[in-house]
Amino acid sequence: MISWFRNPISALGLPVALLAACGGSGPNEGVERDGHSFARPDEARVTHVALDLTADFEGHRLGGTATLSLDVATGARAVVLDSRGLEVENVTDAAGGALEFAFGPVDTILGQALTVSIPEGTDTIVVRYGTSPDAAALQWLAPAQTADGRLPFLYSQGQAILTRTWIPTQDSPGIRQTYEARIVVPEGLRVVMSAEMLTPDGAPAEGGRAFTFRMPQAIPPYLIALAVGELAFAGTGPRTGVWAEPSVVARAAAEFADLEPMVAAAEALYGPYGWGRFDVLVLPPAFPFGGMENPRLTFATPTILAGDRSLVSLIAHELAHSWAGNLVTNATWRDFWLNEGVTSYIELRLMEALYGPERAAMLEVLARRGLADELAGFGDDSAETHLHLDLAGRNPDDGMTAVAYDKGAAFVRTIETAVGRPRFDSWLRAYFTRHAYTSITTDDFVDDLRTHLIAGDAELEQRLEIDRWVYGPGLPDGAFVPRSRAFELVDEQVRRWVEGATAASLPVAGWSTQEWQHFLGALPDGLTTSRLEDLDRTYGLSGSGNSEVLFSWLMIAVRHHYQPALPALERLLTTQGRRKFLSPLYQALMTQASWGPALARELYARARPTYHAVAVRTLDGIVR
Ligand code: BES
Ligand code: ZN
Repeated sequence: MISWFRNPISALGLPVALLAACGGSGPNEGVERDGHSFARPDEARVTHVALDLTADFEGHRLGGTATLSLDVATGARAVVLDSRGLEVENVTDAAGGALEFAFGPVDTILGQALTVSIPEGTDTIVVRYGTSPDAAALQWLAPAQTADGRLPFLYSQGQAILTRTWIPTQDSPGIRQTYEARIVVPEGLRVVMSAEMLTPDGAPAEGGRAFTFRMPQAIPPYLIALAVGELAFAGTGPRTGVWAEPSVVARAAAEFADLEPMVAAAEALYGPYGWGRFDVLVLPPAFPFGGMENPRLTFATPTILAGDRSLVSLIAHELAHSWAGNLVTNATWRDFWLNEGVTSYIELRLMEALYGPERAAMLEVLARRGLADELAGFGDDSAETHLHLDLAGRNPDDGMTAVAYDKGAAFVRTIETAVGRPRFDSWLRAYFTRHAYTSITTDDFVDDLRTHLIAGDAELEQRLEIDRWVYGPGLPDGAFVPRSRAFELVDEQVRRWVEGATAASLPVAGWSTQEWQHFLGALPDGLTTSRLEDLDRTYGLSGSGNSEVLFSWLMIAVRHHYQPALPALERLLTTQGRRKFLSPLYQALMTQASWGPALARELYARARPTYHAVAVRTLDGIVR
């Protein structure tokens, strides 16, 4: 313990840099410093959050109280929280006695430190506050932006550092917290959260109905999540099911009919599912991500409802986070690859277990091609291609590239291949047990690998090239190379068609979505309009109901200024908000000198108000 803990003048007003420079031991000793949080957990650390909030759909504001339980180091006289755009009315102790609080200077990425003085013996503070109408974590949708169009919708997205825009807490993935919540919403709406639902139908409350929840396991705060809307439920098994708007729920339940066996497959590999239920919430199309692994309740885009279960690898991915990410969490956003790389590897294992090795191989090859493109874009020597990523002074969202996901997964796969599956599987399973409900750094992962898998085997240590993979650029030469027999057959058809065969003569009957993605991704540039018409007319690509196939096709259409596809392009850009589709399409438009930028600007001006803040942030940098 260092002396300034006992120095009351450190409670308020000292420059953050000075305070942050102080180390010391305390309730969170040994936790790696997170450059994306103002919190000083070694001084006072949030252990539990109790929310009591009312949703105001007219004012686009959540307001009420957050009661925080604290673990306070001896002599500490302040707790530092993260906040961004929160309006704080007052802060009290458990008995209602006023506490002093102050905001630090605004950082455009991190927001503001919210420092609360705590007299000796304080272990609970109550923050009375409201969110800003433009809180980045919250998207308030008008009825017209929902599937059923009757009632408004609200959902939150906490990862990476957006929880601080709706909850005043210590918003670092290394500071795990349990939580409970009481949320009051207008009559007719229902609330779901990443927590156990205590009142499925709510209870009458002033101003509407109150829904209560509890999450008894300590989770990183980016996993606290909320959605409010006209929602219905359909079960898919004893501990799985789907939530969606009434007109969507049956379709969603059919699409995700394999949830239950998927959980069973994951448990067989990695041990008991630790979160009770695994439900999927299908959001309105504005949701900026494919999926988000909120515990007990994965959030998903409706664009994966293809009608044929062809895009369920996304659900396998979010389920995989129940081990890699939610059970064992990246301690800081530098370690993001621990969440996404291990998860992307497990995603493939689950797809293999459920649908066979060829399906998994196709997905792995597709991912590897995406990685190759991303690495080429960064340049092979770029520090952006390190797994352990330097994000100092940057938005951690910038780390969401194929490097964390697919270089990460390639590393894990390469280790698996080197030691063999049985040995690797038992190591990974034990790794989850050893670190369950904790947040760990890249170094912790590497230490665990060395201690429990390599265990002094010098030849293996050398073969794995850990430092090169983790702290170096590019894809090491020894990386496992995925292959798909099905794709080799597709490649043959690509060759035939490029050499002039008609689309109708290609043996595509029975091609899966992944084979179509591979086919379209392998087509060269410089195709004529009539060749594109041949494909489009024969296979109805511009009218495809599969979002991934349509996206791949539209990328080709934009590069070739293939006009018959432009109405479909307009539709995709203006009726859904998934950033993974929007960014590349807008980017491609912006490079089509004579016509693209004008169209991009026109569509973006129209659609921007319907997109989520995280998509807007990215797209503002693309469409200028
Ligand atoms: N946890 C991520 C989403 C995320 C990452 C949100 C970083 C905010 C910051 C989620 O598990 C994810 O990876 N989603 C992917 C789909 C997946 C199949 C690759 C997505 O949304 O594209
Ligand atoms: Zn993920």
